[in-house]
Amino acid sequence: MDGAPRTLRCFNERHTAEMLSDDGVETVTSVEQNKVERSIEEVFTAYKQIHSLPQPTLLREHHYLYLKKGLRHLSDAYECLDASRPWLCFWILHSLELLEEPIPSAVASDVCQFLSRCQSPTGGFAGGPGQHAHLAPTYAAVNALCIIGTEEAYNVIHREKLLDFLWSVKQPDGSFVMHVGGEVDVRSAYCAASVASLTNILTPKLFEDTTSWILRCQNWEGGLSGVPGLEAHGGYTFCGTAALVILGKEHMLDLKALLRWVVSRQMRFEGGFQGRCNKLVDGCYSFWQAGLLPLLHRALFKEGESELSRQRWMFEQQALQEYILLCCQNPTGGLVDKPGKSRDFYHTCYCLSGLSVAQHFGNQELHHEMILGREENRLAPTHPVYNICPEKVAQALQHFLRLPAPEDDRWTGASAGDRLSDPASASGSVDNQS
Ligand code: FPP
Ligand code: ZN
Repeated sequence: MDGAPRTLRCFNERHTAEMLSDDGVETVTSVEQNKVERSIEEVFTAYKQIHSLPQPTLLREHHYLYLKKGLRHLSDAYECLDASRPWLCFWILHSLELLEEPIPSAVASDVCQFLSRCQSPTGGFAGGPGQHAHLAPTYAAVNALCIIGTEEAYNVIHREKLLDFLWSVKQPDGSFVMHVGGEVDVRSAYCAASVASLTNILTPKLFEDTTSWILRCQNWEGGLSGVPGLEAHGGYTFCGTAALVILGKEHMLDLKALLRWVVSRQMRFEGGFQGRCNKLVDGCYSFWQAGLLPLLHRALFKEGESELSRQRWMFEQQALQEYILLCCQNPTGGLVDKPGKSRDFYHTCYCLSGLSVAQHFGNQELHHEMILGREENRLAPTHPVYNICPEKVAQALQHFLRLPAPEDDRWTGASAGDRLSDPASASGSVDNQS
């Protein structure tokens, strides 16, 4: 890290003192936690036996080959994701952009044509051709198209119809259902805000009461639950917080309580994050949880917090990198939840996204890298609100801001040019820090 190799936490003999002590009372939770800690201890011990130098390696080439193959051929194991096909495009394309692997133009064009077949005649994208539009694949498809970032990709998105779809899932209390007749949870507010802001169709009316609905999801723990009244969880906390950043209302959260909750989700021994209190570490929370720290850093900075570091996020960036590099890499390519689990494109995407967050502090103007291992481990930075590379966000905003905001007869109030928040300023990076 920063040139000279640092000692890994697992080389420190005090590291095992971080393992769980159940005070002699076994519970289902403590038994599971012990099992995971033992399997991770085995990984660390094996690493120490083989390597004297603390230089864990990102298996770039293996990950690249795994991802490249996945764009064309998926095994039978992916049948269960038949209603999540735009997600596969996003997970793979984003992983490739993090690895700075270019997407051949023929592949990019095929992905555009495929996503176009997933677009519903009534607006929004479905999980596959002929299926019903749903907010989750809509988010994934728009992100995938913005990563491709060509005219062909942008032109796939039918913005007027997308706005119709967003209205069709909007609820009177400010929340959104995931699809017509479907369930409400905070993922939908994020998916809607993300696609609306990227494509310049975001209107105050569309998000009326959404802020207050999301704020009701923050509970006594400090994190956010899927709907008001339930348990705080990293996936939902990310969605609710990022949605509020897009809407320019993140300061209305109890930011200090949220900070306390999320930093407590980083595991003492494993170094990775758990999704909720008393649950197990999982590589995908490397993004859902660690990705909250850039959002919080910026929000606290805007609130005038003077104690903020200008070099690091408020979590153990090295510990997370150790967990991902030592415990989450499949030796034949792809990344996993935890040792012993199978690789998949979801965990590959979110482990790499989290690794990127842990490697890069700040934005283009104020940027500090903390790369564990050699320089070849360096990934591209990711935008903490949209989770695509920041240049692709800027390019999409530039493209769609040139296009007129669609006429919206559900729009009441100010002129169409008077947006709830300028999407360009909704960047979750620590803009204007200097
Ligand atoms: C718990 O699973 C997981 C959830 C309840 C949902 C998590 C939500 C996300 C990951 C966010 C999705 C984001 C978008 C944009 C759609 P579990 O009980 O198997 O896992 P756990 O034990 O780790 O909590
Ligand atoms: Zn996971």
